[in-house]
Amino acid sequence: MTALPDDLARALDDALDRVPASRLAPVVERLIGDYRGGVATVSSRQGPILRTDDDAAAYAAYRMPATYAAVHDGLSRAAEVVGRLAPRTLLDVGGGTGAAVWAASRLWPSLRAATVLEGSEPVIALGRRLATGADDAAVRAARWERTQLGAATTLPEADLITVSYVLGELPEPVRETLVDEAAARASTVAVFEPGTPAGYRRILAVRERLIAAGMGVAAPCPHDGACPITGDDWCHFAARVDRTSRHRSLKGGTLSHEDEKFAYVVATRAPGQHADNRVLRHPLQRKGLVTLRLCTGDGAIADRPVPRSRREHYRAARDTGWGDAWPPP
Ligand SMILES: C[S@@+](CC[C@H](N)C(=O)[O-])C[C@H]1O[C@@H](n2cnc3c(N)ncnc32)[C@H](O)[C@@H]1O
Repeated sequence: MTALPDDLARALDDALDRVPASRLAPVVERLIGDYRGGVATVSSRQGPILRTDDDAAAYAAYRMPATYAAVHDGLSRAAEVVGRLAPRTLLDVGGGTGAAVWAASRLWPSLRAATVLEGSEPVIALGRRLATGADDAAVRAARWERTQLGAATTLPEADLITVSYVLGELPEPVRETLVDEAAARASTVAVFEPGTPAGYRRILAVRERLIAAGMGVAAPCPHDGACPITGDDWCHFAARVDRTSRHRSLKGGTLSHEDEKFAYVVATRAPGQHADNRVLRHPLQRKGLVTLRLCTGDGAIADRPVPRSRREHYRAARDTGWGDAWPPP
């Protein structure tokens, strides 16, 4: 479970308390419909999706905890295998209300400066307001720049560039420009997309470009070869997110948590960047046997049985989850 940090939860509450739930709920409903129904994709959209203060508040209320959890999860997987990742500067492209800034800063106390490139003024205003409530100085000092990302965009240099839940809203040439720019300007690039087949395909294309630019994959892949997943399967992971009562009432759900499905790639020029294997599914647990579906270091898919007779391994396998490195780093 990725709990939202207390300071972010508080900042969100403070900001959202200013908007009556009766006003927010229909906006959340519309945004859920837009994102699910593909209105958010560039081919079917007229103008930006998040245009008003209420749009920005609704997005932060129902999506920011989930995008925070996904980014935190993916970045921490990369940090596990690349011990020396300690970014001092972050550029968050299409950064919205700053979920990736909060996640990176929580993970790396080394972070000193963060810049968010974002096109929507109300989103920028809310991101700035939330950041004032952060415990981490790097979040409080983050700079939002109003930028319209396009095929001619050039990016400034940063140790880490994040592109989180943005590419699906951009046409292919813009996606390609941003990924190539990111690879040229940063030593580590992290890209996140929804955990859908379409999101996975975009991540695959990004992965190819980052490898072609000379980077190595830190997570999730344990190799830089071709993705072994074929057919109608797709590589994705899940981050469990606590739901606050506001979150539950806005989304009309009753569960105290939700699983944010996401696809991602973190690539880096830092040395030592592979897990031995990556767990691709919830492990299958039977009496005395755990079976792990793995993407292996030699670029294959394998079901690895871990019987109780292999005591240490078995204990570790029982504590291992979908998305973890195997064996544990
Ligand atoms: C789905 S939100 C993701 C926000 C944030 N990265 C996160 O993970 O929560 C996509 C963001 O990209 C921004 N965006 C989309 N197209 C853009 C463009 N062409 N230029 C600048 N920002 C853009 C939107 O305004 C929105 O804030």
